[in-house]
Amino acid sequence: MVNGVAPMVNSSLDVAAIKAQFPALNQSVYGNKPLVYLDSAASAQKPEAVLCAMDDFQRQDYSNVHRGVHCLSQRATDAFEAARDTVARFLSARVDEIVFTKSTTEAINLVAHGMGELLQPGDEIILTQLEHHANIIPWQLIAQRKGLTIKVVPILDDGQLDLDAFKSLLSDKTKLVGCAYVSNVLGTVLPVNEIIASAHAVGAQVLLDASQAVTHRKVDVKALDVDYLVFTGHKLYGPTGIGVLYGRHELLQALPPYQGGGDMIDRVSFEGSTFKDAPFKFEAGTPAITEAIGLGAAIDWVSSVGMDNIAAHEDKLLHYAHDRLNAFGGVKIHGQAPEKVSVVSFTLEGIHAIDAATILDKTGVAVRVGQHCAEPLHDRLGVSSTARASFAAYNSFNDIDALIEGLGVVRELFA
Ligand code: ALA
Repeated sequence: MVNGVAPMVNSSLDVAAIKAQFPALNQSVYGNKPLVYLDSAASAQKPEAVLCAMDDFQRQDYSNVHRGVHCLSQRATDAFEAARDTVARFLSARVDEIVFTKSTTEAINLVAHGMGELLQPGDEIILTQLEHHANIIPWQLIAQRKGLTIKVVPILDDGQLDLDAFKSLLSDKTKLVGCAYVSNVLGTVLPVNEIIASAHAVGAQVLLDASQAVTHRKVDVKALDVDYLVFTGHKLYGPTGIGVLYGRHELLQALPPYQGGGDMIDRVSFEGSTFKDAPFKFEAGTPAITEAIGLGAAIDWVSSVGMDNIAAHEDKLLHYAHDRLNAFGGVKIHGQAPEKVSVVSFTLEGIHAIDAATILDKTGVAVRVGQHCAEPLHDRLGVSSTARASFAAYNSFNDIDALIEGLGVVRELFA
């Protein structure tokens, strides 16, 4: 027993073998402190499979896509479009419903910009209190420009969405509901099926920010019946600089282009130009070719491990972390929803989260601290910042033991 909590030894994954595939994880920091990486919700580390896929592509097949008749351009185009196929299969979407963007943020801005052209003054957008800033600011910008109203769904004390309040905000004026699938702070899994069905019942579209969901759960856009869904590559063991927008094909076709330039056009003349069909009309300029290929490799890697295996392992980590933090005492865990992924934000009695995270770092334990791009949520929680430990496929129960040991050092220093 460790402080009254039974040590966890069983896992559905061979974590040591998985961790060995991540070069960055096999190092010590500050001289001799083995790195314990608990910041995957901010950005996950990359396995060899992803690093090699990108490196091989750059060394052997690199060229620009879509516009070359030569061999390398054809290889690059094939690899880039194969990555789009991989993303489509990952989400159970059609391939022409997958737009590559540079990030989740860009994907949401793309939809907000396009909808801004289509909505009318007085139309309403519903967001939730737990949104990341990326799913708030783009809507605020178009709301200001177009005279739209934003309504906000509150959360309950345990971090669940107040579904009754959500339903009471819906009306025939609601045109878009934007919400996280999983909270990046609380780990709460939102009741997206009910949200989507209720929104559709009043004729509203739904955009899900699935950045924190695709890393922990199988996501099927057709089963969800969602209109738009966005995520980023770098949290899914892939590179930065690549994000994904899924949109129903007919909705993407109706949205105006976001950026203009090469590759997104059909015909160009000074009298007027026409654009390609979706997804290409949203991909102006040379895309992030290597990064898209890296994302494809990351999805293949996740599939080879098995999302269900990853989810089962992370659920065990989550419960162990909760148990050990509760047994440690003087810790408030923010986010206790029954449906929750392996993200644990907490504050310590009498110790500022920034101090705690800074000292933890010196023990080799990397956690996130601050507001995690969710200031309205922190206002609701009544804290200026939280420390956040987030767990991925490569984390072990030993990592959680190291977190608790590190917190022991924090507490001693502040005693
Ligand atoms: N959005 C990232 C996070 O939640 C950076 O930490």
